Amino acid sequence: MAWALHAEQEGGPPFHASGWGCASVSTVPGAHLAQPGVISRNAFPYAGCLTIWLRSEGVGDDDVLVEDAVRSAVASFLAKTKGGAAFVGMSTKVLQLLGAASSDRCPAFTAKPSTDTGEVLLPASGGDLLFWLKGHDAEWCSKVCQAVQDDLGSCAMRAEETQCAAWEGRDLTGFIDGTANPDSTLRSLAEVALQPDGGSICFASRFVHNLAAFKAMCPAAQSAIIARDLYQTKPAKGSDGRLENPRYLTPDLRGHILRAWGDMYRQALPYHKGAVQIPGAGNDEGLMFIAMAKDAEEFETVLKRMCGEFAHLTTVGKDFGHDNIFQISRAASAMYFYVPPMAELVHLCKCAEACPGLDALPAFPINGIDERLRGKLENRFCLNCEEDSNFMLPNESDLAQCLLCRKLFHRTDAGFPAPNL
Ligand code: HEM
Repeated sequence: MAWALHAEQEGGPPFHASGWGCASVSTVPGAHLAQPGVISRNAFPYAGCLTIWLRSEGVGDDDVLVEDAVRSAVASFLAKTKGGAAFVGMSTKVLQLLGAASSDRCPAFTAKPSTDTGEVLLPASGGDLLFWLKGHDAEWCSKVCQAVQDDLGSCAMRAEETQCAAWEGRDLTGFIDGTANPDSTLRSLAEVALQPDGGSICFASRFVHNLAAFKAMCPAAQSAIIARDLYQTKPAKGSDGRLENPRYLTPDLRGHILRAWGDMYRQALPYHKGAVQIPGAGNDEGLMFIAMAKDAEEFETVLKRMCGEFAHLTTVGKDFGHDNIFQISRAASAMYFYVPPMAELVHLCKCAEACPGLDALPAFPINGIDERLRGKLENRFCLNCEEDSNFMLPNESDLAQCLLCRKLFHRTDAGFPAPNL
């Protein structure tokens, strides 16, 4: 039986723990097999990120201790997050420790220097376990991260906890972050983030911003960092019309989006550490960059391009040196993790019984639709599930619901699909 986590209860809202409709999750290949945090929507206001470096000198009995501690920490993480928008990532060392057949599925990360200056821009910080959870309560995110550290006890040689908070969809520089993310539909997201069995590769990197340096720049130089106009906001022309900073036309080809294009699903969120609460008030603040891809080569190519490689391949102008983003930010850590499908995680950690939230994905709850809405039906192409679908147009309402993914649209919205004629 395929295992999946779901938040839906009989008669409850038809949403999966990832925030997508259960119907979408069950129709998109691989989606119900993944840990929900891999595909979770970028709509949660808080996130906790915990990286663990395990005690490494252990042999024999000590290895067994570490192995047991990892299993119980993962089991209690799953129980505490109750099938929510969370995932656990693992290094090769952990996969081997737990006896995984797939221990080669975690790619190695090597430090990446600037082709310009030789300075290491992305250090290979290592790390054995990555816990990522998103939620609506900052205190809860922090408590879960603390509990995992308590479970691991002295088996954790080092832990780095980063608590993140969304900042109205923007990075701390003020740029809207997420414009070109392929997450207007679960299908487009899954295509870039998921391997056929629901596994994924995570690139995790904490970027520390120098906001004082950024604020001291003139508006043109600021916009040239990302190659988007920081001082304009418009609805994007893409399928869901999300707000974006429009492209900033400049001859400088080191703007971030001219370097960082590639197939990945980004879940990055701003963070402020320690006592620093206000953006710009201190220097331990920046972006916790978390992104998912089905293939680590996607990350490798983007990261190398950001560091200045492949400049000789351009035919459009003067292109050398590293991404402008490094003028205002530095990576304090960088690492790849393999994020196993839920079934593999449960198998490796022997924790099926310890996780009451685990259940088989429920069948598409057809009965619920009639109970909730009555009205005429129209056939349209749904932009959310990317299928031709029937839409219920309930009586006395300006809403319309796709009967496949259950997404509700305002009939008056420009994004509401036209009927199929
Ligand atoms: C300090 C760190 C970073 C900041 C502040 C940052 C910020 C941004 C912003 C504001 C955008 C434009 C809006 C959007 O499309 O989302 C963007 C685009 C993007 N970023 Fe980053 N980013 C950072 C690091 C990275 C890293 C390390 C990667 C790759 C692993 C990356 C991959 C991308 C991609 C793929 C896009 C979309 C580009 C396109 O096709 O237009 N970013 N980023």
